[in-house]
Amino acid sequence: MKNNDSLVIVGAQWGDEGKGKVIDFLAAGADVVARFQGGDNAGHTVVYGANIFKLHHIPSGILNPRCTSLLGSGMVINPLVLLDELAELEKRGISTANLRISGKAHLIMAYHQVYDRANEEMLGENKIGTTGRGIGPAYADKALRRGLRVIDMTDSRVFRERLAQVLPLQNRLLKDAYGHEGYEFNRLVEIYRPACNKLSPMVTDTSRLLSESLSEGKKVLFEGAQGALLDIDHGTYPFVTSSSTVAAAAGSGSGLGPQCASRVLGVLKAYTTRVGEGPFPSEEKGEAGDLLRAQGSEFGTTTGRPRRCGWFDAVIARYAARINGLTGLAITKLDVLSGLETINMAVAYQCSGSTIKEFPSSIAELQKCEPAYEIFPGWHEDISRARTMDDLPQAARQYLEAMEETVGVPIELISVGPDRTQTIIRPQTYLAGWCGD
Ligand code: GDP
Ligand code: IMO
Ligand code: MG
Repeated sequence: MKNNDSLVIVGAQWGDEGKGKVIDFLAAGADVVARFQGGDNAGHTVVYGANIFKLHHIPSGILNPRCTSLLGSGMVINPLVLLDELAELEKRGISTANLRISGKAHLIMAYHQVYDRANEEMLGENKIGTTGRGIGPAYADKALRRGLRVIDMTDSRVFRERLAQVLPLQNRLLKDAYGHEGYEFNRLVEIYRPACNKLSPMVTDTSRLLSESLSEGKKVLFEGAQGALLDIDHGTYPFVTSSSTVAAAAGSGSGLGPQCASRVLGVLKAYTTRVGEGPFPSEEKGEAGDLLRAQGSEFGTTTGRPRRCGWFDAVIARYAARINGLTGLAITKLDVLSGLETINMAVAYQCSGSTIKEFPSSIAELQKCEPAYEIFPGWHEDISRARTMDDLPQAARQYLEAMEETVGVPIELISVGPDRTQTIIRPQTYLAGWCGD
């Protein structure tokens, strides 16, 4: 397996960093784009010209006709949502002929959504703030060894058999613990039949396909969903998602070894957002947060919820760099900061009278942390037409340089607007080579 030309792209904050935009841009130079974790909790937006696409399962590489797009074994897939997503793309003239799905990915079933929403309701004010897509319960059933997998959908006899094995238990749980009437076997089979028919021809040994692609020297892009702080192990547990969102999961979630990618690009907004509950030290609940939300159109792609907004947090970024092994940074939404008099950057936390520079493991400690800010001068120019570093005002360059220095990882890409074209690639970086410079 060669890996000289493979790249993992992960979110390095709490999700919604602009991964979709960055991946779509870089997919122009890729042969294969593969998702490896998460499900339709992801909402990746791609914009070019007047076209806006919101992708949930399908990799952002799908908009590039020469790319093969893969849904890897580490994912959980809602076949009904995927069917809608495919229909929407096809209706808009986007070919889905190059989409392949791992048979080992697990299925999100109707009852998983019921559990997800009911769990949240039962948690009341301690809720996680999930997307309600059934992600946690689907991964829980996978771990409990009672999940259905994509491969089970490819043979109607097997699908019926597997469903017959698990449904009595699910129905008992639904009725006894959740006060839900449960699902009738034949009705569920009928609901899933069109998805079984449509998705079956796409099921492939994606591990083998990826391994062969790498051996042939093809360029592979691994598309992360969510972000470092939502990782099940390393995030702000329990306010996390239920999968491993860090770069190491690209291998395990695709059926490859840890050396599957030579580079790891972390995507970060020039400020910070979070949807759902949980600690967020640099959150701005007042005017500054409202301004970032309005200027950055910070409303969830999947749920439409207003995103919580705050300043860039370098403590988080350094932590994300460590747990992902980041080799480069992509900074998005720099244009959103235009017009601010000053810009804050959290460079450390104050916690119980001491200054800490490392992200704490304890959520109780994190909840007590106050950000220690360094303050930077803002700029007033519209930077959305900038295409090189030299096009940026001095103050914007100074802010980026400080970011790079405090995080300790080079910035390779800067995004100054949602459109594909609104992108700056730093010369002489790995990404410059990727883009053919
Ligand atoms: P993802 O989940 O990481 O792919 O991010 P989302 O798509 O959920 O959210 C990012 C939002 O910001 C989307 O609406 C993008 O179109 C938009 N976006 C991405 N990059 C930029 C940028 O540089 N500037 C502006 N103004 N918007 C951006
Ligand atoms: P992308 O890929 C932002 C958050 C939810 C909630 C927590 C658990 O678009 O960056 P879940 O439904 O996964 O059980 O919810 O994780 N969350 C995301 N936040 N972007 C996402 O994906 C997210 N996917 C899940 O808001 O706090
Ligand atoms: Mg998103």
